[in-house]
Amino acid sequence: MKLWGGRFKSGVNELVNTFNASISIDSRMYKEDIIGSLAHVKMLGRQGIISSKDSEKIVNGLNEILKRIENGVIDIDNASEDIHSFIESTLTYYIGDEGKKLHTGRSRNDQVALDTKLYVKKYLIVVANQVLNLQTVILNKAKENINTIMPGYTHMQKAQPITFAHHIMAYAEMLKRDYGRLVDCYDRMNEMPLGSGALATSTYPIDRNFVSNELGFNNPTINSIDSVSDRDYAIEALSALSLIMMHLSRFSEEVILWCTDEFNFVELDDAYSTGSSIMPQKKNPDVAELVRGKTGRVYGDLMTLLTVMKGIPLAYNKDMQEDKESLFDGLDTVLLSIQTFTGMLDTMKIKKDVMNKAASGGFTNATDVADYLVKKGEAFRNAHEIVGKIVLYCIDENKTIYDLTLGEFKSFSPFFEEDVYKAIDLITCVEGRSVMGGPSSSSVQNQISLLENFIGEKLEVLKCLK
Ligand code: ARG
Repeated sequence: MKLWGGRFKSGVNELVNTFNASISIDSRMYKEDIIGSLAHVKMLGRQGIISSKDSEKIVNGLNEILKRIENGVIDIDNASEDIHSFIESTLTYYIGDEGKKLHTGRSRNDQVALDTKLYVKKYLIVVANQVLNLQTVILNKAKENINTIMPGYTHMQKAQPITFAHHIMAYAEMLKRDYGRLVDCYDRMNEMPLGSGALATSTYPIDRNFVSNELGFNNPTINSIDSVSDRDYAIEALSALSLIMMHLSRFSEEVILWCTDEFNFVELDDAYSTGSSIMPQKKNPDVAELVRGKTGRVYGDLMTLLTVMKGIPLAYNKDMQEDKESLFDGLDTVLLSIQTFTGMLDTMKIKKDVMNKAASGGFTNATDVADYLVKKGEAFRNAHEIVGKIVLYCIDENKTIYDLTLGEFKSFSPFFEEDVYKAIDLITCVEGRSVMGGPSSSSVQNQISLLENFIGEKLEVLKCLK
């Protein structure tokens, strides 16, 4: 049943019906639509806009419909225009003419804004919880690998020794910011649009504060035109989600590299790998590759919405119906990606010996040799030059710096003494970097404690949001 047939002499072209309909996309908001309508109709009753008897009858009808949809007794009819039309016509079908009073003092424009906000708010909390889950897995992996030395890279070239814990804790920091962006978005969008009507509110004595409180918003929106034409929250959400995907994608890229025969730093669990239909030896990191691939898809969702919104005048325009497909796709994709990635990381085996061996190649302790000379009295620029020559020599001789005899060391600088070996040992190199943020075990332990506090605190915050 259409909500707007009165003004039309003839029916709508079949293709236009299909083109205009959004039910296949927005049916997933049935619960938000009903919850929003419940608050609205209670308010109508309290304000005497409809009788309390009618209000109660509608409340009971809506609750019954919600129950029946959830129990699978009612199927959402894809022939309806959208979820709002479906719920309203189902209500009238069930309770009779009183159902026709539900839409008093509102429009689908403020209704869809409300439903979408309720839906996004709920989803943001779910995604934020998943971010904390992933951080917890990183935290546990870091605790187990505080002394797992690996090469740190710049330009994809071995640079300086770090630990696996130090490396993955970098991702925990990114995820802290991701969490912050999700909650910022939640806080900013936490204004209730219903009562804005089509664009200019209504002449009924509606109580927007009541509806706002009922539904757990901070306050009603301030300007009715903005209320029905704002989709910033969807764009902000997709932008925060895009950043999460960018971080997961970088992490995935590293996992893919680490799984190669060339690196061989980690092994994925069978449950998180796939095989090849032709090459029997293959164990592929498909999960990581898919996360990397799906990142493009979420960026696309963000671009879609930015583009849909960029040219439309105030207030509501039907273009805005196009918001939900991208929004929901972004939310679904990110949620599934974080969940799968978290499981993959949790079960990933770390090959400590291989990492350690890799860190001893590639002259990762060259900076420490220069620092050694500086501590003995050489100027840093000279020390840098001397160690450059040592590296060249080692390449020619096919040796590591650690392999050199004291005599060989002394041929480069008289400052070298027996204690050089201890000074350039990988453990010394790592433990010597105990400044805040560094790779030493004490420094990483501090990072771990801060993360532990963060996760504990934010889990409490999320419990309070609704
Ligand atoms: N299904 C529509 C949407 O998602 C509802 C709003 C329709 N409003 C209107 N004035 N035609 O945006």
